[in-house]
This record gives sequence, structure tokens and C-alpha cells, in this order.
Amino acid sequence: MHEVRNFLDLDLIDAATPRRIIDVSARIKASGERKPLLANHTLAMVFEKPSTRTRVSFDVAMQTLGGGVVSLEPNGSQLGRGETLADTARILSEYVDVIMFRTSSIEKLEEMVEAATVPVINGLTDRSHPCQIMADVMTFEEKVGPIAGRIVAWSGDSNNVANSWIHAAVQFGFEFRVASPSGLQPPQDILDWAAANGGRVSVGDDPVAAVAGADCVVTDTWVSMGDNGADRRRALLSPYRVDEGLMGHAADGAVFMHCLPVYRGDEATTGVVDGPQSVVWTEAGNRLHAQKGILLWCLHGNAAFD
Ligand code: CP
Ligand code: NVA
Repeated sequence: MHEVRNFLDLDLIDAATPRRIIDVSARIKASGERKPLLANHTLAMVFEKPSTRTRVSFDVAMQTLGGGVVSLEPNGSQLGRGETLADTARILSEYVDVIMFRTSSIEKLEEMVEAATVPVINGLTDRSHPCQIMADVMTFEEKVGPIAGRIVAWSGDSNNVANSWIHAAVQFGFEFRVASPSGLQPPQDILDWAAANGGRVSVGDDPVAAVAGADCVVTDTWVSMGDNGADRRRALLSPYRVDEGLMGHAADGAVFMHCLPVYRGDEATTGVVDGPQSVVWTEAGNRLHAQKGILLWCLHGNAAFD
């Protein structure tokens, strides 16, 4: 059987792979090359949750590499009428070369992976968002410099994006400091994995302590897709809002990042999102380039890095 290269989570691949994917993505961005490296290849995107950036960046990445794309949602496909994910995965594998899946639970992603015979890319679950973090690390390095040895601070809800930052901290060798209220802190098993793998990840409830001297301050929505209790979350998380005062504790030259969509006035002020330290537009733009690197690795393996 041929090897299937799934892109599921940064803790499931060796550290050299995401490093090389980002290098290739940055190289493609810098050169502006549009070689048809994925001609005659097709991507199926399956969305069980809404998306703007992931949807458009994967679609355009595939098109500019010479490939094709089909997109499915429960509404409008047989998934919405009860056809199983496993059966859907088997059918899609007959037609396409790679599947990108955005869903709620890791179990659903695993069901897709188990039944698919082509690579599967995690396009976000409640637990992680690895494609996002590839673009984020790429953006940090483009704007600030090599991320190894630097400090990234998270202030807010420790959600799927924060979990992928923890994975990245280990794989790319940077310090990651989390400030979140009790009850909204990262899952213990992810923290245990980081500790067991030499990660420098700390968790507390003081945003100023986390941000002090950081090279990057990052946050995300207080109410992720599928979360309940928006009012309770807002009350718990308001001390973690990234405002100009909090940014003032970061290192000189620090950047502000956010995966978007942003809710200005909740997790970050307008002044920060649209301010001089914000790199959120480059970050969103780099989703396109990072998706190219991910797709090339899934479909061409190490040959993608030549
Ligand atoms: N950041 C991100 O994944 O955005 P979308 O939900 O729009 O894809
Ligand atoms: N944490 C957010 C990310 C959206 C891209 C969510 O899951 O809704």
C-alpha cells in the first residue's frame, strides 16, 4: 500500500515536516511562481461548519497550482440525509486525490480518515486548527524573524487555535504563554504532551504576566463555532481582552495576530486589530500560501520540498 500523508495535527507529524512546509510556502510566495504542480489533481472540501478563509484559500491554492476543487456541505449532499462520513470518505476517495474536512469533533475527523484512501487535511475541529497555525508561524517569521526561541503570548479562551499553537510551540521551538480564566484553559492531555516533548508552555490567569516581553500577542473569538453560553464566556473573558494597554507590555516590535473572524471590542479592541502592530491581514493572506505547502506535501511528499 502506498503511504497516505494526512495533515491532521502538528503533534502527529515529525517536526521537520511543518518546518519544510512553511519554507516551501514562503518560497512560493516570494517567487510568485504559478507552476501547475497539482495539475490533474482534485481536492474535495467538506464543510460541516462555516468558513470564509479556509474555503477560499484552499480553493484558490488548488486552482493556482493547476488542480480542481469540489465543495460539499451537509445541506445539499447526502450527508445531510444521514449518509455516513465513512461512506462519504470512501466515495470521495474514488473521485478525488485529497480531502479537506472541517467538522466539530475529532472523532468525526477520525471516521473520515479511517475510511478514506486519500490524504485527509484537518480544516478545523473543536480541538485544533493546524492549517491556521502554519500560516501564523509563516507570518511571524515573515514579519519578525525565525520563531525558534521567541515568545508568543495567548490571552483569551484556550480554544482549538490555542491548542494548535501549543503543538507548534513544541515543533518549532518557541515559548508559548497562555493567559485564560479557570475552566477555559487548555486540555491537560495537550499540556502533558507538550511537557513530555520538552515544550516551554505555561498556563496562568494573568494576561499581563503572559504578555510581558512577548514577541507576539495572539487571541481569538470568545465564542467559537458550537460554543454555548456566550454571555457567561464574555463575562469570564473580558479581563483578557487585548487592548493597547496590554500590548504595551509586549516586547518592542511585537506583533498582534488573530486567525479571524474577529469581534472588535470583545477579544481585541479596534485600535489593536487595526493598529500598527497588527499583522492580521498578512496572516489571513498567508493562509493561501500555507495551503499550497500543505497540499504539495500531502500529494507529493518530500518531492514537494525539492
Ligand atoms: N481563520 C479561519 O479558519 O477562518 P474561516 O473560518 O473563515 O475559514
Ligand atoms: N476558534 C474559532 C476559529 C474560527 C476560525 C472557532 O472554532 O470558531
